[in-house]
Amino acid sequence: MAVDLLLGLQWGDEGKGKIVDVLTANYDIIARFQGGPNAGHTLEFDGIKHVLRTIPSGIFHKKAVNVIGNGVVIDPVVFVKELHGLDALDVDYKSRLIISRKAHLILPTHRLLDAASEAAKGKAKIGSTLKGIGPTYMDKTGRNGIRVGDLELDNWKEKYRALADKHLGMIDFYNTEVQFNLEEMEVEFFEAVTELKKLTFIDSEEYLNQAIKSGKTILAEGAQGSLLDIDFGTYPFVTSSNTTAAGACTGLGVAPTRIKEVYGIFKAYTTRVGSGPFPTELFDEVGVEMAKVGREFGAVTGRPRRCGWLDLIALKYTCEINGVTQLMMMKGDVLSGFDELKVCTAYKYKGETITHLPYNIEPENVTPIYSSFPCWKEDLTKMTETSQFPKELNTYIAFLEKELEIPIKVVSVGPDRTQTIHR
Ligand code: GDP
Ligand code: IMO
Ligand code: MG
Repeated sequence: MAVDLLLGLQWGDEGKGKIVDVLTANYDIIARFQGGPNAGHTLEFDGIKHVLRTIPSGIFHKKAVNVIGNGVVIDPVVFVKELHGLDALDVDYKSRLIISRKAHLILPTHRLLDAASEAAKGKAKIGSTLKGIGPTYMDKTGRNGIRVGDLELDNWKEKYRALADKHLGMIDFYNTEVQFNLEEMEVEFFEAVTELKKLTFIDSEEYLNQAIKSGKTILAEGAQGSLLDIDFGTYPFVTSSNTTAAGACTGLGVAPTRIKEVYGIFKAYTTRVGSGPFPTELFDEVGVEMAKVGREFGAVTGRPRRCGWLDLIALKYTCEINGVTQLMMMKGDVLSGFDELKVCTAYKYKGETITHLPYNIEPENVTPIYSSFPCWKEDLTKMTETSQFPKELNTYIAFLEKELEIPIKVVSVGPDRTQTIHR
């Protein structure tokens, strides 16, 4: 069978966790392919609200196997806390959670390096979640990293020491005032590694390709969003992995020819957390209202998310790069009762009107041009089928489908698993 792929089309937090949880009933295997504990994927069902960081969002289903792929970076300390969160909910994950030997480890000094690097950047800081993501991927591509499979070797602690010592030199170089007690951090780290080693490590590319051959269905779960992609995002205000479709191939070891459906998730408006350009950002009371009604606070850092209108130019770009075959629109319920809706359909760029995403999208370079729509007044959160949709919502959906030339197959009308309407 094939692999279907689910990813965020904006700057993250589109609602990927919720939809993976909803779709898991249709799959044998859920596989995370990139990112790490910078992600916060929220699931709500049966009165439970749970945020996952590294663990795939299929973990609450009894049948599915959850794979952490080679493209993911794992912080054992955060990971073990996640496991404790599952223990508290009596989730029997031991037989259903397996980890690629080729996934890289986030060391305590990677977190320190992240903090030092951000502090040294001053006003130009990325707004990183400070989970050590950038430094860990740097060590991966720099060919210095420590991988999960290394934990099975006798000499892994020597490798650890050499790398941590090198990091300390680098932290000195930054000459910032980052305070830390590495000894304490290391005690916590080594304890967490002992816990991590109780789980099953696998050659995940082999496992997944065998699963495909034997007819199993696989859903690949992305983290972050396409506009945070290291190559195609708003560089340098991005994360350090490929969050786009290609990342699923390199992050799991499945060939492009194996990918079938590409589910692209977007909010009916736009949010961004951290620094970087955001052409349709709102600084008025409408943006404040979106943040309030949409509860737009980061699931990982608690930082307020910046809010703005839907940017169709950016969305077209990310649909194209990912080869999206089906769209899922989230959080339409948040907009109920707004005076009007706006969608950015072009940019004013260096005196010209353009409809593609240019190299520079900073405020001094682009001004969004909007189309306006009447907004629905009805509360969507209790709706269960498309026949109940107000005409304004249908008009909005039809416009987006026409512009993007991709069907919107799911409309999410609330955070709960049940508030999901298939079209
Ligand atoms: P992810 O990182 O893509 O998994 O998304 P997050 O979990 O970081 O952020 C999405 C937030 O929106 C979470 O708090 C979800 O519970 C919530 N959410 C998801 N879908 C909907 C929806 O359709 N309506 C509303 N109101 N909230 C939603
Ligand atoms: P999920 O999977 C939203 C943002 C950070 C920062 C930039 C770099 O929940 O959608 P990093 O920690 O990777 O060095 O941060 O990327 N960022 C996210 N924003 N959702 C996420 O993940 C994010 N992961 C990273 O805020 O701007
Ligand atoms: Mg999130």
